[in-house]
Amino acid sequence: MLEVNAVTKLYRSKPALTDVSLYVNPGESLGIIGESGSGKSTLGKLILGLEPLDKGDIHFRGVNIQAQKGSALKSIRRHIQIVFQNPTGSLNPKLPVWKSVVEPLENYPEVVPSFLKDRNISKKSMARVLFHQVGLSEELMDRYPHQLSGGQKQRIAIARGISLEPSLLICDEPTSSLDVSVQAQILNLLKELKNDLNMSYLFISHDIAAVQFMCDRIAVLKDGSLVDVFKTEDIFSEERHPYTKALIEAGGQVPCPG
Ligand SMILES: Nc1ncnc2c1ncn2[C@@H]1O[C@H](COP(=O)(O)OP(=O)(O)OP(=O)(O)O)[C@@H](O)[C@H]1O
Ligand SMILES: [Mg+2]
Repeated sequence: MLEVNAVTKLYRSKPALTDVSLYVNPGESLGIIGESGSGKSTLGKLILGLEPLDKGDIHFRGVNIQAQKGSALKSIRRHIQIVFQNPTGSLNPKLPVWKSVVEPLENYPEVVPSFLKDRNISKKSMARVLFHQVGLSEELMDRYPHQLSGGQKQRIAIARGISLEPSLLICDEPTSSLDVSVQAQILNLLKELKNDLNMSYLFISHDIAAVQFMCDRIAVLKDGSLVDVFKTEDIFSEERHPYTKALIEAGGQVPCPG
């Protein structure tokens, strides 16, 4: 479904990504781990078509993303959504949160996600369905972002992210800004939604335990290069790249196998 082929991205002639190739299958969840500055978010931005790349190409459902413009790019973008680390930054502080949730649906009036059945209902009713999907009480619909907790705001951002029923959801450190107690709830929600809506995930995180919980396969970035890709079950294998082993040890959050 998603293919990244030999992608190199330079910022001011310094490489942020060098010759990166990977793929994500339908319904699959691929984890991306690596230190700060290793190029994880850059990869997400390129997949969304937000920035040009310097070498290689990215195909989504057989379409070269960087070659698309205008309405063609818009029709692909509908299928790729993103949830960021900081939910406050991704919500409009001047709008009651229900309006942020249905904003993508307003931009794509022709899209009818399966959970809405039809679109002949009010926007607020659509928001109500989405609130329900992410386990939020509809009593919160009229509040503004500053009147919600971090976990509630991240649920709002997730509701917005799934509103168009994307086939790929990029999660860029979706729990890093949250209290530890809330992190597990959000991970559980993301996992349930992935199954219910049959989405693929590109799950970017520093938290190796979270990636293990969420992902079928894991890719390791180091200074913009992919050094290791493996099935999650093989995380403790001897064959792991020394850098992967070092990350696991440094993480200290990885539960013992079995
Ligand atoms: N818009 C930009 N202009 C210039 N340099 C950039 C830009 N965006 C990213 N970079 C550089 O590209 C490299 C990769 O950044 P990126 O944000 O992808 O890292 P990351 O792995 O997501 O890090 P973190 O874990 O801290 O989020 C870094 O050296 C960063 O400084
Ligand atoms: Mg990042």
